[in-house]
Amino acid sequence: MGKTETDVKNYIKGLHDLSTIPVLLGKIVGTCNDENATAEDLYKLITFDPALAERVLRVSNSALLGHSGQVKDIHQAIMFLGFERIKSLALGMTVMNAFPSRGAITAVNLWVHSYEVAFLSSVLSDVIPLTLPGECFLAGLLHDVGRIVFFGMDNARFLFTDTTETMFDQEMAAFGCTHADAGAWLVESLGMPKELGVPIKYHHLPSAAKESRNLVAAVALAEGLTRKFTARAENDGIWTAEHDALLKQYSIAPEEITAIGEKLNEARPEIEAMFTSP
Ligand SMILES: [Fe+2]
Ligand SMILES: [Fe+2]
Repeated sequence: MGKTETDVKNYIKGLHDLSTIPVLLGKIVGTCNDENATAEDLYKLITFDPALAERVLRVSNSALLGHSGQVKDIHQAIMFLGFERIKSLALGMTVMNAFPSRGAITAVNLWVHSYEVAFLSSVLSDVIPLTLPGECFLAGLLHDVGRIVFFGMDNARFLFTDTTETMFDQEMAAFGCTHADAGAWLVESLGMPKELGVPIKYHHLPSAAKESRNLVAAVALAEGLTRKFTARAENDGIWTAEHDALLKQYSIAPEEITAIGEKLNEARPEIEAMFTSP
């Protein structure tokens, strides 16, 4: 018997009860939702967890976010990259840390895929109006967090689903909902900003989104493009007519796509190193 939507919701709820979600994540979400929070509050939270601080520094120092100088500490990272961007990064990284990554090949590849989509979403914010790179990055990073939920909930069932055209049908049969639904429920249950749930829920069906359509488009296109650039089993960037329509809508020319692919190629070794090196 396959699992049901209720099983998935209960599993997500259980993540809180079992304290699988670290206390730190709750605090970071709280700080991010608090309009009066200062850079100093964020600094204290990030440096409280040395592993998180190290990751934030690594990303800040990489060319991924377009900063080429040397960022030596979190204060500098906040100064150079901006409060909003570091907030997104800390939030995304903390969610990632709450779920398995090292030690399980599939989970590592899932995070590499998620990071590639985050990277491409922020690159696409240049050509998609009314989107911010930091916001695109975070939505991209968490776009497939529902698959991480499935992975954690029932590894065997998760591994049984594949990333072909029938992926959603397979997920419905195995879990009673899609990874897009599960991801949106997770971020909602974590108390993350509501706007973040929208791109997660509609990243495979952008035309169904009623709000944040540009942000949804950036994430959907980024996911579709990663599949064109990276053939990996964990990559679920299934290209549909919706993606062609988005390219047309935003007048994204083939040369631009080639240039975007080159940027990803340059960044890829660094992205892979982030999740595989000790
Ligand atoms: Fe997906
Ligand atoms: Fe994906």
